Amino acid sequence: MLWRRILLGAVIAVFILSGFFEAEPEIQQTRAPYEADPLYVNAAGIPETSAAAADVEIIARRGANNIFNEHTLTAYEIAADAEVDSLEIDLRMTKDHELIALHDAALDRTTTGTGPPESRTLEEIKQLNTVAVFGEETYTEPVPALEEIFAKFEQKEHYYIETRLVDGDTKMEEPFIDLLQEHDLLNPEYVSFQSFSKRSLQKMQELAPEIRTTLLYNANKFNLKDALAADADVIGLESRNVTRDNVDALHQQGKEVHVFFTDEKTQLAEQQRVIAYGVDGVFTDDIDFTKQVVNNAAQVLLHSR
Ligand code: G3P
Ligand code: CA
Repeated sequence: MLWRRILLGAVIAVFILSGFFEAEPEIQQTRAPYEADPLYVNAAGIPETSAAAADVEIIARRGANNIFNEHTLTAYEIAADAEVDSLEIDLRMTKDHELIALHDAALDRTTTGTGPPESRTLEEIKQLNTVAVFGEETYTEPVPALEEIFAKFEQKEHYYIETRLVDGDTKMEEPFIDLLQEHDLLNPEYVSFQSFSKRSLQKMQELAPEIRTTLLYNANKFNLKDALAADADVIGLESRNVTRDNVDALHQQGKEVHVFFTDEKTQLAEQQRVIAYGVDGVFTDDIDFTKQVVNNAAQVLLHSR
């Protein structure tokens, strides 16, 4: 019967067309705002841990070190202007027991000087410059004393400061606490402590038990059992040690997880991976990128509500 064939064809056409038009906008609504690697989003296109990702603490490692010389007032100013959550500072001690912002055990890589900073007075170190090349430009700027950083940013920033042993001993902790007190910064709102040295961290806890502490582990030294038992609020991991199981285990123990990255080639992908696992903070070498990942997660949250 011709009329039956026409009716059946019309029903099938309506069914196909309505399904097609209904499905398309739904996919676009859930996926469009998030541009991250789909490996880290669930079947609906939403990162499993988007709430945690949107809240991750952005820590400017050594200041905005991808834009200006690491550990300089300018690098910290760029990071502060980008409204990061914390300025990360590595401490070294001079021959005359002053604290300076410097990462390496020697001045050679980042400054015009050579040898260990402990062999020079602050006045001698102030004669040197940090030097770094970005594109076709070479920038120079003096090594800052910790006091200069505090004087510049005062209580406007949160400082996340790494202490270490000097000549195998806890020599920098007391002068560091004194300096924080002089600048009215000895308060969890303004400062957090971090160290790879348990002895240094323990000394800091004795001197200022109210301040948040982070125990750092180099990639080849991490041991989950040790970290779970550690007397620290936060565990600082190199990204290769960050697995979903490790993050979950540390969270269950009431510890936060902050992550640093030592391979610049994999850092951006690694940031996305660990942020999706719900880590609580990242020591970033690329503030803009981290802000983008965090903002994307916030957008997904907004659109998934
Ligand atoms: O302090 C966190 C992270 O910066 C650890 O690595 O070697 O830069 O101090 P490093
Ligand atoms: Ca550090």
